[in-house]
Amino acid sequence: MQTVAKLSEVPNFGKKVVSIGGRDILLVNIKGVIHAVENECPHQGSPMNAAIIKDGFISCPRHGYCFSLADGHCANHPDLILATFPVQVNGDEIQLDLG
Ligand code: FES
Repeated sequence: MQTVAKLSEVPNFGKKVVSIGGRDILLVNIKGVIHAVENECPHQGSPMNAAIIKDGFISCPRHGYCFSLADGHCANHPDLILATFPVQVNGDEIQLDLG
């Protein structure tokens, strides 16, 4: 697990992009639960940080495809997967398992 941000930097219903080892990862806080996904849509590469989030899905701002925050599956195109990362919160530290 690698510390990537402070919990206080990602307010409830807020987002933050962190750059780790050359990849941009989007942190999302949904009612105190932190999710981490690749900040690049697997469809045509749009950044996901301007996405709308609803009912556990993040909707790409370019064409609107919806991806599960839990496992990255796409509700519109099952062949597309948004990379997700295991998250652990330790005090004020957000830690990710980047594999
Ligand atoms: S680039 Fe994200 S849905 Fe097309």
